This record gives sequence, structure tokens and C-alpha cells, in this order.
Amino acid sequence: MTGQKLVSIDVGGKYIHIVEGISKTSGLEINRAVLVNTPVGSYADGRMEDINIIKDAIKTAYLENKIKTKRVAFSTQSTAVITRDLVMPLMKAEELENAVKYEMEQYLPSTQEGYIIEFKINQDFTEDNIKKYKIRTAAMPAGIADAYYKLALALKLKPVALDIHSNSVSKLFAGAFSVNGESFDPDKTYAFIDMGSRTTTVNIIANGKLELSRILSFGGREIDTAVAPQYNLSLEKAEKKKEEIRLDSSSYGSENLQEDEVRHILAQQTAEMQKLFHFHTSRGAGGGIQTIFIYGGGSGLKGLAGFIKSIVNIDVIKIDDLGIIKTKPYMEPGLDHFVNAAAALIRY
Ligand SMILES: Nc1ncnc2c1ncn2[C@@H]1O[C@H](COP(=O)(O)OP(=O)(O)OP(=O)(O)O)[C@@H](O)[C@H]1O
Ligand SMILES: [Mg+2]
Repeated sequence: MTGQKLVSIDVGGKYIHIVEGISKTSGLEINRAVLVNTPVGSYADGRMEDINIIKDAIKTAYLENKIKTKRVAFSTQSTAVITRDLVMPLMKAEELENAVKYEMEQYLPSTQEGYIIEFKINQDFTEDNIKKYKIRTAAMPAGIADAYYKLALALKLKPVALDIHSNSVSKLFAGAFSVNGESFDPDKTYAFIDMGSRTTTVNIIANGKLELSRILSFGGREIDTAVAPQYNLSLEKAEKKKEEIRLDSSSYGSENLQEDEVRHILAQQTAEMQKLFHFHTSRGAGGGIQTIFIYGGGSGLKGLAGFIKSIVNIDVIKIDDLGIIKTKPYMEPGLDHFVNAAAALIRY
């Protein structure tokens, strides 16, 4: 697992998250974590609409932070990425690759750009005396992948990988793991929720394996757009004001209308997440969800963990620190913003 120094980049709806570090057998060593604004209109749902201005933003970040590392990995997500769990009989590696592609093609809409198909063997088991594999497969529109390749070349960097967040993050929690100094048993089922600006992604991981990943199309921005007109604020000002909200203090129905509105939106968002927990549990896969972990900028709302817990009745922990990260620089904002990028340092 020990590799060379790597930069990993997660281009999001609001920020470009850049991490420089190295993945060792002992864990991750991060030496830089840089956040820059995603230029307005340059990115949506995994697609970079304007590679050039994203390139300029990353280039500036490289220069200002004196980053020299050429090897770059990207992690992204898009509702256009199609994932499936397939069951295949035991076969040779090359045959398996063809069989997976053939099988996947029936799920893919025919598009001009085509798809890049990748898979990993999640599990092997015996059924009716036949050895089989459980395979997690992802098909990414080729246009999305090409854009990242072009971006790396435009930056004169060496692209080594393009991953999807759900896969990147599941590597962080593949074995026994610790969050904020507390250890967790890998044999249980956990939900990891990435609360971004435009999206909220629910990942359910059981026994270290990703069992469900769903991108919900709402995020922190919903709160800004709902609150801004009430106070006649610009979206930027409303976003700043949001950081003052304390979900854990004043109660519902308080004189603070803004906080009530925020609670209302968050309750709706939580209900959408809860539907996914119920869906997962109803499929009978393993036990119920033991603990929910939240990360992503949107998880920074004060008192959010307790607020979600009061609705879903499951323990909620905001990720501020991860045991797998052995060294990290002072981060402002915190590690919660860099979970996808940090995870993408792990290459195997
Ligand atoms: N302290 C805070 N309190 C509440 N919200 C916050 C705080 N800090 C950042 N946010 C919100 O977090 C969001 C940005 O988070 P993040 O960087 O995870 O998004 P992104 O990855 O760019 O977006 P997406 O994942 O949807 O593509 C914004 O909506 C921002 O307002
Ligand atoms: Mg994000």
C-alpha cells in the first residue's frame, strides 16, 4: 500500500478540494489540504462544463501553496454513473472482464459518448456447489472521464486514477476504523453521509463493503436559497449567516424565523435520507444501521448531528478526525471537507 506522494482532487459544486499526501501501510500522511472555490458555472453533477477555468483555479492553488507533486488522482461523483452488483461464476481474469462488460451493457442507455466500465470483486462465495463472485461494477460516461484526463494534461500533471467517491470512501472504512478517537467494529453496518453544497450522498457500508450509495440532489445550498429572500440577503451573505445557526439551542417555534425555516428544510432532508436507511434494512441485508457518520461542508452546521439523531433515532457522529490519517496539517475548514480527497490517496 506504500506509494509515492500523490495529489488528490475532488471538484465539488462549491469547492475544489485538494489534498497532497502519501498512503502507507501504517495509514495516510497528509501534508497539504487546500480548498478553492469552484468557478461559478464550471461544474455540475460530475461534469466539468469549463475545463479551462477549473484548470486555472487549480493551477493558482498549486502555485500559492507551492505544490510540486505531479502525480494526481481524482475522485468524483455523478448521477450519470451507473453502478450494479453482479454475481458471476468463477472464471479467469480476462474472461471475467469481458463477461462483466457484456452483462453491464444491458443496463446502460446507449449514448454517443459511451461508458468506461470498472469493477471490483467484493466477495466470493459458493452457491449450488458453484464458486461465484459478487462484483461491484461502475459505468462512468466516457465524457466525464475524458474531461479529467484533459484537465490533468492541461495542468501538466500525471493522472494516475479517477475514482468515484463512494468507492474512495469505502476504502477508508474497510477494516476496523476509528473516528474522533473512538474505535468501531467493522462487522457492523454504518451510514456515511457526505453533505455537500448541491448534493447529499448516503453510503451504507457493512462489513467494510459498500452496500448502497445514493446521491440525493439537495445540499447546503437549499438552506441558503430558502433563507436569503426572507432577510433580503445575497446567497453569499445567507451562507455566512448560516454558520451562526445553532440547532442545539433554541427550540422549534422560537422567535428566530430563520432557524425555524432551516430546521424545517433539514427535517425534510433527513426524511429523504431515512427512506434510504429503511430501504436498505428492508432488503434484509445485515442488521440495521449502527451509527451514522456525517461529513462534507454541510455537516458543519452546529448541532446537526443531534438534530438528525432526534429524527432517525440512530447515533450520529460528525467526522472531525480519522484514525487512518496518521499525520495532517492544520486544516481550515476541517477534515470534514476533505474526506473524499483524503480517501482518494488510497490507491489499490
Ligand atoms: N460551518 C458551516 N455550517 C454550515 N454549512 C457550512 C459550513 N461550512 C460550509 N458549509 C456549507 O458546506 C457546503 C460546501 O461543502 P462541500 O465543500 O462539502 O461541498 P461540495 O463538495 O463543493 O459540493 P457537492 O458535494 O454538492 O458537489 C456549502 O453549502 C457551505 O455553505
Ligand atoms: Mg462534495
